[in-house]
Order: sequence, then structure tokens, then C-alpha cells
Amino acid sequence: MSMGTSEAVRPVLSGAAPQFLCSDLFSSNLDLVFYSRCHIKTGKKRGPRYLQSLKCSSMSGCQLGSYRYEGLGGGLYRNTTIDRLKLLSCKCQQAESVGGVDAGEGNAAWFVDNAKKLNLNGLINSQNIMEFEDVEQLKRENEVLMSSGKAGTGTSTFAAASVDSIEEEAWELLRASMVYYCGSPVGTIAANDPTCTDVLNYDQVFIRDFIPSGIAFLLKGEYDIVRNFILHTLQLQSWEKTMDCHSPGQGLMPASFKVRTVPLDGDDLATEEVLDPDFGEAAIGRVAPVDSGLWWIILLRAYGKCSGDLSVQERVDVQTGIKMILRLCLADGFDMFPTLLVTDGSCMIDRRMGIHGHPLEIQALFYSALLCAREMLTPEDGSADLLRALNNRLVALSFHIREYYWIDMRKLNEIYRYKTEEYSYDAINKFNIYPDQISPWLVEWMPNRGGYLIGNLQPAHMDFRFFSLGNLWAVVSGLATTAQSHAILDLIEAKWADLVAEMPFKICYPALEGQEWQIITGCDPKNTPWSYHNSGSWPTLLWQLTVACMKMNRPEIAAKAVSVAEKRLSRDKWPEYYDTKKARFIGKQSRLFQTWSIAGYLVAKLLLADPNAAKILTTEEDSELVNAFSCMITANPRRKRGPKSSKQTYIV
Ligand code: GLC
Repeated sequence: MSMGTSEAVRPVLSGAAPQFLCSDLFSSNLDLVFYSRCHIKTGKKRGPRYLQSLKCSSMSGCQLGSYRYEGLGGGLYRNTTIDRLKLLSCKCQQAESVGGVDAGEGNAAWFVDNAKKLNLNGLINSQNIMEFEDVEQLKRENEVLMSSGKAGTGTSTFAAASVDSIEEEAWELLRASMVYYCGSPVGTIAANDPTCTDVLNYDQVFIRDFIPSGIAFLLKGEYDIVRNFILHTLQLQSWEKTMDCHSPGQGLMPASFKVRTVPLDGDDLATEEVLDPDFGEAAIGRVAPVDSGLWWIILLRAYGKCSGDLSVQERVDVQTGIKMILRLCLADGFDMFPTLLVTDGSCMIDRRMGIHGHPLEIQALFYSALLCAREMLTPEDGSADLLRALNNRLVALSFHIREYYWIDMRKLNEIYRYKTEEYSYDAINKFNIYPDQISPWLVEWMPNRGGYLIGNLQPAHMDFRFFSLGNLWAVVSGLATTAQSHAILDLIEAKWADLVAEMPFKICYPALEGQEWQIITGCDPKNTPWSYHNSGSWPTLLWQLTVACMKMNRPEIAAKAVSVAEKRLSRDKWPEYYDTKKARFIGKQSRLFQTWSIAGYLVAKLLLADPNAAKILTTEEDSELVNAFSCMITANPRRKRGPKSSKQTYIV
């Protein structure tokens, strides 16, 4: 499909935009003391490092929102600046009363249900709501105490109380990580580690890192920060961005942005705030963050579903933003596959890890974003082509992933016996996979029950590593079938000791070691075996695990993982990641007070309290797509397929 450029330039870049942006974005914040004059500089050049940015000038000398205060349980030890925090919490209380989730009630309901199922009723204390895992723990402790003849040490009250205080601490830290622009919250800083001298870009708001923060705020009924984030990042989408002399596609969303305070032109006393995006042109490795735009669409839908405010997604500039992302993803290229072709490091794993090509994480987010966008796009004359391309891609993508990425014992055995060099339209081994590439670890590792989607598929290459985010999001989005989704969760249960061990959740399994590590990572010292992206354990993945479990109605898996995380997260000061096979050590270069570790934990807790809320993130195939999919299966590409039938398209 050829992509027109008619919508490429969003009206906001014209002279009329600033007032629009200003009144619309900030009208609800007039109670704030900051006088904000917002405008967009249209100058071609940016200042130092292209400081062409969204601007908001202020005579009150706005500060950036790194709020610090003393005496938190987790051991923050900075000074206090909480005025804005106070202002914010006033607003939050209002928002809560409008329609937030009542965590207490939901939690009780879930717990009582599960306690019944597991016959734990004797241990319920309805006043003092404990999580299922605490009760299990308590039950075990009681058994030990009884058998050793001791009793009544009061452990139970302590356990429940400390879980409560961990949550409280997490909320305080999450609020402390909020970043403000012209007095309004617009995101959360990636890490707020007071022990770290080398902040790199961890003082920025990362799009992907903000998603769990945004979901936590949504589930709490605090919608403003999410709305502001969506609208501000949308403005950054159209930014002038170049790497040397080359510019990436129009719809690209930044990896991160920073609020900077700079002197106001021509006025020594005044400062202004600017939003300064990074599209990868400053990022290590200079990779474009393909996942950012996909996450943005997913969050936009979640915002509408949770708040009930559909006016944001219906705005013309937001609709244009969605279409720009879609056009970028759906543009024709050289590809034979419906999967999105990307460079290494274009997602959560943002350093070289051998995930170039068609990595699962990007495909799962792509599928999810396509379904979310399909739900939100308002039909209009100009978008028929785009919708057709979107529908065709959804069908082709789900077919491709379900069919070719899936492995379990049966499929592995099939690959093990593959014939190679089949030149024909009806080859079984389409990608010419040589059975010898089945790694020895996999032969041992694959459980009898369960299966998963492999990490990547290219001609003559299957990356058999298990990538967690891609698998979990394939469950959440419905890219995996229902049976496959259950099998993925079965595998997680079967491989608990490898994937969770002492901290959920391994980013991938297993680690690249020895020469493979040298060649594939380029000897990256941050990605040594069982560290960081190379099979480190990332607490933030807890929230994706929980959404997947809720969708499949298997909350006990998530509850168990949360109970593992709860033992260490706060004590260890909310690290970014853990190292070693069993996740026993805080990561070598791990930041502390990493916001998405904090937010991931909170989202998991909120969803355990109200599993139904997971619906703001999950998607299902509708009957039209199921139909189109079965047409595709009937056409069966495994059987005879000549040049004619391969041209067939499925218009939904
Ligand atoms: C690391 C992670 C990346 C994350 C960033 C900020 O670079 O690999 O996924 O967005 O830190 O936390």
C-alpha cells in the first residue's frame, strides 16, 4: 500500500496550534499557581543539542518535578520540596472520589474467592485483609511452629502490616517520581536513585517506562497525568529529528523526553520550561524506539476505557497521531513476512542482544496496537485504505506468529525431523531451518506440558530463546490463541525456578554465554551472562505477567510472583534488575528506585485486587477477524499454494 502524505503534517505545527494546545491542555489546571505561557518554537535549529522544544515560559521559575522528601521506609534521604506534591494530592483525592478502583473492596473479593477455592477460610480475617500468598505463608509458618511446639509469635499481623507499608511506600515513591511541565504532571522519571552519580538518561521520562506508571494512576482514578502525557508526547511525535543528515519516519514517537528549564530569550530574570525529546539520536547505539508509538496507542485506549473520557482519542490531532504511527508501521517495504522488521535494540531490550529482524516483543506490541487503533479510529472517507491494510495485516500477522513462532514438544519434534532445502510452494520447512540449530539446552528445557513463542524467526534461523515480554503480551493481546496462552502460563509454572526463582521475571532465557555472548552482544560488559538484558530479572515485568494471568483467569500465578517480589523489592530499594541465574543479586549496574519496578509492583497489586480492571489492557479478536482467520487457514498455506492464490487478500 502506498502511503499518502496528506496527514503527515499535523495542524499543531501551524501558527494556530499553540493556543489550541495551551487552552486545551491546561484549562483544567488553572488552580495551579504557575502562570504558563506555552508556545512552540518553529525555528529550524535547536539550541545546544537541538533544543527546539515545546516551551512553557514562567515567571515563577518552575522547577522540574524531582520531588524529594525525607524519612521514607525505603531509605530516601534527600531534603523536602513537597509543595507541588501537596497540590497534586489534593487533585488526586478529587479524582479518586469520581470513580477510581476501590482497592480495599476488590482485594477482599478476590481474596475471599480464592481462599474459598483453596480452602483457606479458617485463616481469613476480613478486617485485616491479607493477600493469598501471605495466608499461604502464614499457614506454612503455623505448620512449622506447631510441629516445633512453638506458637503465637504474631507473625501474621506483621506480614499483613508490612505488605501494606510496602504498598504505601511504593505509592509515595511513584508520586515522588512525577515530572512536571508548566505545573502539570506529564510523566514519571525513569529512576530516582540518590546513590547514583552517573544519571545518564535515567532522569528522563521514557515512554515505555511510563506505561506501568500510567496504568497505576489510571487504576487509582488519577487521570490527569496520563492525559497530559498522551497529549504532550503526541506533540513530540512530529518533531524534527535527524541522525547526521537522515530523518526517520514521520510517526516516530520519542524513546524519552526531558523537561528542561532554560533562560527565556531576552529576559535575564525569567526562565521557561522546554520539552526536549530523544528519538534515539542521543541514545546509546542510536536506535529508534519502535515500541514507543505502539505503547502510546495501547495507553491511549486504556485511558479511554478506564476514565470513560473518549474525547481525547476522538480529537483530530490524536486521530492523526494514531494514523501516523500506523502508516509508519504498515508502509510497504521489501518484506515477505507480515511481522515488523526492526533493528536490534528497538524495544525494552535497547542494546545489542541479537534481536534484530522480527523480534517477538515488537510483534506482540504491534498486534496489540493494531487492535487498539482499530477500536479507536473514527471512520472517515480518507481512512478506508488504512483500515483495509490494518485488517489484512492483523490476520496475516496472527497467522504467521501462531503458526511459525509456536513451539512445544510436538512442534519441536517436528522441527527435529525437518527436511531441508525444499524448493516448492508447499514446503513444510518454509524457512529452511536446519534441525541442528535446536540448541542442547532446549531439548532438556522444553516441558511436556506447555509451550511458548520463540524470540525471532528469519530465513534459516529460529531464535529459540524465551522472551518474557513478547510471550506475556501475546497472551494479553490475543496474538496467541487461547490454547497457546494457557500453554505459555503452563510453561511459566513448569519453569518457575528458571523464570522467577528469587525475583520475577527473567527478561529472557537462557543467557548468551562464551563466544555466543562475544559475537552477538559485541562483548557488551553490561550484558554479561545472567545480567541486565542477557537474562537478568526485571521486577517491572510483574505487571505484564499479572495482566496475562488475569486475562486467562489464573490469578494465583501472579499472586505467587508478587509474594516473591514483595520479600525483596522494598528491602533492596526497588532495583531496576537483578543478576545471576536465580536472581539472587541486585544487578551490577542496576539503578535503585527505578520507577517502573515500583509502578509494575503497584499495577500487579491493583489488578490482584480487581482482576476485571485488566480489561483496559487486554484485547480479543472479534468475529470478523476470526472469520477472516479461518478463511486463511482453509486456504492453508501448508498445502498447495501457487502464485495465484498467494495474491489473495482478506478484506474484513
Ligand atoms: C534501560 C532499559 C530500557 C528502559 C531504560 C530506562 O535502558 O533497557 O528498556 O526504558 O533503561 O529505564
